[in-house]
Amino acid sequence: MAAYTLKVRRFQPESGDGPYWETFDVELDPTLSVLDGLLQAKDRDDGSLAVRCSCRAAICGSCGVKINGQSALACKTQIGEAKEIANRRDGGSEPIVVEPMGNMPVIKDLVTDMESTHWTKIRRVTPWLLPEGDPPEREYIVPPESMIDITQSMACIQCGACVSSCLSMEADPDFIGPAALAKAYRFVGDPRDAETEERLHDLANDPHGIYDCTHCFSCIDACPKGVAPMDQIMRLRRKATAGYEIDDHNNGMRHEHAFVKIIESKGTLDESLLLQESFAPGLKGKLAPRPGAIKGLIESIPTAIRGLRSGKMRSLPKLIPGIHPKLPGDAQDNVRRIYAHAEDHSVELNLYIRGEEAEEDAPVPEAEAVPAAAIEPEPDEGGG
Ligand code: SF4
Ligand code: SF4
Ligand code: FES
Repeated sequence: MAAYTLKVRRFQPESGDGPYWETFDVELDPTLSVLDGLLQAKDRDDGSLAVRCSCRAAICGSCGVKINGQSALACKTQIGEAKEIANRRDGGSEPIVVEPMGNMPVIKDLVTDMESTHWTKIRRVTPWLLPEGDPPEREYIVPPESMIDITQSMACIQCGACVSSCLSMEADPDFIGPAALAKAYRFVGDPRDAETEERLHDLANDPHGIYDCTHCFSCIDACPKGVAPMDQIMRLRRKATAGYEIDDHNNGMRHEHAFVKIIESKGTLDESLLLQESFAPGLKGKLAPRPGAIKGLIESIPTAIRGLRSGKMRSLPKLIPGIHPKLPGDAQDNVRRIYAHAEDHSVELNLYIRGEEAEEDAPVPEAEAVPAAAIEPEPDEGGG
């Protein structure tokens, strides 16, 4: 047994007061969880302490909170480890800080309203199969390898930890978000679904869709089940750009192509070309402005100014085209070799794209095909 102090952010709406902090002293084995600590405090000190939980085994997704500032499952976080992290953070004997999840309204204490920011967005991506034609008499038969690509997204338990930690959602609460987009990939990547292109068009053209993610990795760190939502978003983008070449209203595809082309050509990002290349590609040829390019360029000016002010973009004199520093020696050739290597090894790097091509190239013999139901847990609309 060891003694721990939990510093809990509380909010009791019936009192009419705002949020406040309260500390609870608990005694637990270090291998027990932060949730066990909260339940002990509720049992021994204050029965009104609200915390949501059910399975206590990292399965139901109910107990998402922030522990020492990081979104996590309370039942999957050992209290001894949480204490070590708290000590490391402040270099002393600090309490374990427990707060409700972020990016969601708080209902009471550690219980958040997941309907408004999580479930509404999950429903937004049509989280069920849309197959073509009548269903087969028995189950759908699919090659096993065509399902490998989506098993990672099927591991989601809808805990909302990724939503809680998403930086883009802080800036844009309408962002569809990591959990819903990971769920979207679960159906976009499913060979039984017949609406792949429509789904991708929808998500690419939504101003709060796949191009609203800033690639910050925060959701990957937060996810307790290894779903890596950001990776699923990148897979959606790959399918939308390389797969279906969807020239979206957000200019996402062209912006992505601009990054790739500039770095292939110059080795590092020449920011003086980024806006122009995004709206009117012409680095290696004639300028080919897309419809609405001028409007898009003008609308991007405030972002560019913010980038300059914050130091994320280089200062104006260094942005003059033609003075971008060249890579030393044969470094540029090495960059091109990296591009060639990525192209040659796209099977490993882009399993999610090549999985479909491999299916066309080498159809799986019928004897090796297995029912999807043998791979995927039922029911389909549930946590998978
Ligand atoms: S990587 Fe994208 S989806 Fe994930 S937390 Fe960052 S902004 Fe949000
Ligand atoms: S992707 Fe991970 S963090 Fe997000 S809801 Fe699913 S299990 Fe939770
Ligand atoms: S109580 Fe079920 S995931 Fe924590």
